[in-house]
Amino acid sequence: MRIAVIGAGYVGLVSGACFSDFGFEVVIVDKDKSRIARLEAGKIPIYEPGLEDLVARNRDAGRLSFTASLPAAMKRADAVFIAVGTPTRRGDGFADLTYVYAAADEIARCLAGPCVVVCKSTVPIGTNREVLRRIKAIRPDAAVDVASNPEFLREGSAIEDFKRPDRVVVGAESEQARAVMQSLYRPLSLNETPILFTGLETAELIKYAANAFLATKITFINEVADLCERVGANVQEVARGIGLDRRIGPKFLHAGPGYGGSCFPKDTLALVSTARSAGAPIRIVEAVVDVNEARKRAMAERVLAALDGDLSGKTVAVLGLTFKPNTDDMREAPSLVIVPALQAAGARIRAHDPEGMAEAAKLLDDVEWCDGPYHAAEGSDAIVVITEWDAYRALDVVRLKRLMKGDAFFDLRNIYKTAEMADRGFRHFGIGIGQPG
Ligand code: NAD
Ligand code: UGA
Repeated sequence: MRIAVIGAGYVGLVSGACFSDFGFEVVIVDKDKSRIARLEAGKIPIYEPGLEDLVARNRDAGRLSFTASLPAAMKRADAVFIAVGTPTRRGDGFADLTYVYAAADEIARCLAGPCVVVCKSTVPIGTNREVLRRIKAIRPDAAVDVASNPEFLREGSAIEDFKRPDRVVVGAESEQARAVMQSLYRPLSLNETPILFTGLETAELIKYAANAFLATKITFINEVADLCERVGANVQEVARGIGLDRRIGPKFLHAGPGYGGSCFPKDTLALVSTARSAGAPIRIVEAVVDVNEARKRAMAERVLAALDGDLSGKTVAVLGLTFKPNTDDMREAPSLVIVPALQAAGARIRAHDPEGMAEAAKLLDDVEWCDGPYHAAEGSDAIVVITEWDAYRALDVVRLKRLMKGDAFFDLRNIYKTAEMADRGFRHFGIGIGQPG
């Protein structure tokens, strides 16, 4: 089997590298020539644990290569994956399909033999059918099929998620497409991964419904956390208490500063727009979008309230800027709302992130970038932990306190215990940790 992958981003790189690790011959193509040049020089453009070794191993074995030329990548390819971005379209919240349709048109011009065009990008209902229509319009002669194969990997654990998924979803309507997809995912049958074959529209909707459901679960526990603070309950115990019910499940019940990232925000918005235009609005997801936006701003207001409503002349140390740990991805990170709101209230910001500072520096102004958490804490009135990197899980809090001017510790991921922090001289503000009685 020979595979071409269009797009050397998170999904294209990880999927391509994993398929090559299973033994398939994979060529990854990107229109960004500098990205391809870096990859050819062995440099990985994103931070993803394990990816550098995986890519090197398969390049050395001659199974994985990179090119900026689609015709070269598609030579003798049995399947071509589209893994390009589908950002939010300006103005209406829909997914912008410019890159997907451009890739489809380019594929049409390069088709040589029979080929299955597989859409791995997250795309709205109807897109795969439109991809097929466009290709057939350009190349009515081509023996081409489409398959919708949404991806469920998470950044930070992308390789493990790709190789050991809970399920694989394939929307396909021809025998040829089903057979090719079955062969490509046969390596997963060892772990008995269920492969769900559906129609095109169903596969497309499964992806949006899954992301919207997870975003809803997070938003639900975030609002329960606010209630916990008012009534003296503890959200971590509530989460455990409900999560042990297998119908609910323990995952995605960690209260925090609101979800971020390249997908939940854009995919919830896209589902809201699709559902509205189809005349079947999903009001629960509309509420989730609004509540999550307001939540990020509310995080900065907490800091302001605890520091007497005035941050002018005060210094805040911010630990963790990426939208989650183990990535350098800053897309829609809560820090991008929280930090400017603190600055607008007068605060001077000292910040640290283990992998995200280069990217964050492009998006945030007037931040003093620090070498580590202790450096950031020097002279600060408050510490705000936004992202739960491992490096912040066992901090020497006595040392931190000595370095600080103030005593406020905003722990937006509930890493530390309020009583233990109080013993070390901190006013500790967790999320959803009410005081009983
Ligand atoms: P990305 O922005 O990291 O990468 C996309 C790449 O595609 C870029 O390098 C760009 O240069 C390239 N590209 C665009 N048009 C091209 C063309 N015509 N020819 C060649 N290269 C082209 O995107 P991503 O984060 O990998 O996301 C891709 C898709 O996968 C999106 O639809 C996203 O919603 C979905 N998805 C992402 C994740 C994730 O964790 N990031 C997980 C599941 C699904
Ligand atoms: C998410 C989904 O988990 C993947 O299945 C999906 O493939 C991907 O989106 C996508 O479509 O791109 P990802 O955004 O990489 O993956 O990361 P998550 O671990 O889901 O975290 C998303 C956001 O939710 C982060 O900001 C995280 O901090 C937050 N979160 C997550 C919580 O606040 N609480 C939780 O319990 C879990």
